[in-house]
Amino acid sequence: MTEERSAVDVRIRELLHQMTLTDKIGQLNQIMGAEGRVTEELAHQVRSGLVGSLLNEVDRPTVNELQRIAVEESRLGIPLLVGRDVIHGFRTILPIPLGQAAAWDPDLVRRGARMAAREASQQGVRWTFAPMVDICRDPRWGRVAECLGEDPHLAGKLAAAMVRGFQGEDLARPDSLAACAKHFAGYGASEAGRDYNSTNIPERELRSVHLPPFRAALQAGACTFMTSFCDLDGIPASANRVLMTGILREEWGFDGFVVSDWESIPQLCVHGLCADPREAARTASRAGVDVDMMGRAYLNHLADLVAAGELHEAQIDLMVSRVLRVKLRLGLFEHPYTEAEGSLEEPPPAHLDMAYEAAAKSVVLLKNDHGLLPLSPERSSRIAVIGPLAREPREQLGTWIFDGDPSLSITPLEAIGARMAAASGGGVRPGEVRYVRGLDTTRSRDRTDIPATVDAARWSDVVVLCLGEESVLSGEGHCRTDLSLPGAQEALIRAIRETGTPVVLVVLAGRPLALDGVVDQVDALLMAWHPGTMAGPALADLLFGEIAPSGRLPITFPRVTGQIPIYYGHRMTGRPPSPETFVHMDDLPRGASQHSAGAASYHLDTHYTPLFPFGFGLTYTSFAYRDLRVTPSRIPPDGTVEVSVEVENTGERAGVEVVQLYIRDPVASVTRPVRELKGFRRVPLEAGERRTVTFALQAADLAFPGQDMAPVVEAGLIQVWVGGDSRANLEAQFEVI
Ligand code: NOJ
Repeated sequence: MTEERSAVDVRIRELLHQMTLTDKIGQLNQIMGAEGRVTEELAHQVRSGLVGSLLNEVDRPTVNELQRIAVEESRLGIPLLVGRDVIHGFRTILPIPLGQAAAWDPDLVRRGARMAAREASQQGVRWTFAPMVDICRDPRWGRVAECLGEDPHLAGKLAAAMVRGFQGEDLARPDSLAACAKHFAGYGASEAGRDYNSTNIPERELRSVHLPPFRAALQAGACTFMTSFCDLDGIPASANRVLMTGILREEWGFDGFVVSDWESIPQLCVHGLCADPREAARTASRAGVDVDMMGRAYLNHLADLVAAGELHEAQIDLMVSRVLRVKLRLGLFEHPYTEAEGSLEEPPPAHLDMAYEAAAKSVVLLKNDHGLLPLSPERSSRIAVIGPLAREPREQLGTWIFDGDPSLSITPLEAIGARMAAASGGGVRPGEVRYVRGLDTTRSRDRTDIPATVDAARWSDVVVLCLGEESVLSGEGHCRTDLSLPGAQEALIRAIRETGTPVVLVVLAGRPLALDGVVDQVDALLMAWHPGTMAGPALADLLFGEIAPSGRLPITFPRVTGQIPIYYGHRMTGRPPSPETFVHMDDLPRGASQHSAGAASYHLDTHYTPLFPFGFGLTYTSFAYRDLRVTPSRIPPDGTVEVSVEVENTGERAGVEVVQLYIRDPVASVTRPVRELKGFRRVPLEAGERRTVTFALQAADLAFPGQDMAPVVEAGLIQVWVGGDSRANLEAQFEVI
C-alpha cells in the first residue's frame, strides 16, 4: 500500500468513527441542485448531512454557498461532491463523442476533456458523468452519439484518454474532475436500439466486447462508475452483483465508488425485480451500488434495513469509505471552494482552437468523385449553401450540451461566407454565397421551399448541402427505427441533383445514417457528426482545402437500416456470403425455386457489405502500403511481435493516414471475430513521403475468454492485416507456440 493510500485510509477510518448511521447514509444520497438557488429545503438537507453529492448545479456562488453550509454547518463538515454531465465540452462544445472517436486520436480526446474540465471546474463542478464507454453496434439507439464507436480497442484507448483528460495529472488540483465510466454494463446493446430496453449479452461477448473499454477506463484511473439502466439477462445493472462486485471490485480491484443512474434503484421495482423501494435499496446496496442518484431509496430505507438486520452496518461503512476516498483524492476537504474568478462568457482562444481542431479532425470524407473537393473560390465563385442545418448554432452542438453556449457557435454558412468574401483579397473576384434553408427542420415534410433551393442550385457553381439530423433526434431516449435522412431531405437532394450542379453533401448527425438512397445523388459526401462550437470554420477549411480531411469511421455505416446490427468484428458464419453466392432479389428469375443447398448468409434486398466500413475515410491524397513484416514469425504466449509496414503518400498533397492493424485467430477453441483492431496510428505524410510504421503486438493482446471463460492465449496461427480501413488486404501472419 502506498503512503498516500494508507494516509487516505487512516482518514477514512477516523471519519467513519465519528459518523452516525444518518451521516453515513447521507454520503450515499445524491440529489439535484435548485438551478442557482439555495432553497431552504436544500440548505436544510445539506446542513443535516443528508446529502453527499449534488448534480446539476453549476452556478459558482451557489455551489460555494452550499459547500460552505456542508463544511461549516453540518456536524462533520464533510464537503459535497458536485457532479454534472460534462460530455463533450462544457461552455465550449467539442464534437459529440462519436465524432471525437472518428479522429482516432487519443491525445486529442485527452486535451478536449482537459479543456472541458477546466471550464466545468471553474463553476464548482468536480465530477463528470463521462466517459460513456458503452459499445454500440445498433445506431438506432440515440445514445450512440455519446459513445466511442463499435470497437472495444478503439473505444478503450479513447476512454482511457478521456479519463486522463478529465482527471488531469493530479486529481487534487482544483481543475480536475473525477471521471465516471458509464454505463456499467451492456447498455449499448439495448434491444432494437430502443433506449432503456433489456439487453441479452452472452458472457463471452460481454467480456470480449462490452467490458474491455470499462477496464481501460479503470486502468487510466477512473475513480467512479455508473450503473446502466438496462436489465442484463434478467438482472438489471443496478442490482447486478456479478458486475458491480464480482467483476468490478473482486476481479479488477476498483476502489472508487459506483453511482446508480437516475432513479435506477427505485426503478428495480418497475423492472419487476423488487417489490418496493426498500427491497430495491437492499438489493442495490448488496450488489455493490454505493450512491443512489435521485432515487431516495437509500435515504429512506437503509437505516431501517440495518435496524432490521437485513444489511450490516459494515456494508454501509464500506460504501461510505468509497465515497470518502474519492472526496479525499479530489482534495475537497482541503479546498472545498471554487476560487476561480472570471466568467466563461468568453472562453479563451485556446478553447476555441481546441474545438476547431477536434471538429476538423472528426470529419470523415466518404465520397469525392472527380476530385470535386477541395473547392477553390476561383473555380466555384458562386456557392449555394442549402439546408436546415447550415445556419443552426444550437443544432450543430448535438446532444448533452447543458452548459454549451450556442452564441459562441460559428455556423457553416457564416464560415463559408467569410471564406468566399476573403477570396477577393487574393486578387480573385469576391465569391458569392446564396443561402436557402429549403426545409424548416430536418424532419419537415413540407416541400414548399424546394423550388427555391433548385433556383439557387441553378445559379451556383457548386451546392453545399447541410443536412442530417438536428440534435434532438439523437441522445438519451431519442431513438429511431429508420436511419435514412428524415423528412423531405431525400426529395430535396433529388430535386437539386436534376439541376446538374455538382453537390457536396455535408451530413450533420448524431449517428451513422443509412445513405444508400442518396449516396449516388451527390458528388462528395462529408460526415461531420455534430461538430460543436467551431463546426463552421472546420468545415469551411476542409471544403476549401486549407486542411485535409483525416477522420475515419469509428462505426460501420449500413446501406439500409434493416442491415443493423452490422459491424466489422462479427464472427464467421458457416455460410459466408461471397460475390459468387450473392443474388439480389431483382436478379432472381421469375418462379425461382427456393433451396437451401449453397445458400449463404445475406439479405435478398441489399448487398451484404455495409455502405462504408469501419475505419474508412478518404482524404485529398492517396496512400499505398507495402512491405508488411511481422518479426519474429513465432513467439511464446508471453512474447511480442513487431509489425512493420511502409506507407507512402502517393498523391500530390500532404495528408494524414490512419494506419490500422487488424488480426484474426482463424482457428480457436471458440470462434473468433473475422477481424479485430489491435493498433492504430495517425501518420502525417507530405506528398511523396514514405514512412515505416511499426506496432508492437503482444501475444497477451490476443487473449480471449476461452470455453471456461478464463482468458487464454492459444497456440496457433494469427493472421495480420495493415491498411487504411477494416477491409485492409495486405496480409502477413505469425504463430503463437
Ligand atoms: C441519466 C443518464 O443515463 C446518465 O448518463 C446521466 O449521467 C444521468 N442521467 C445524469 O444526468
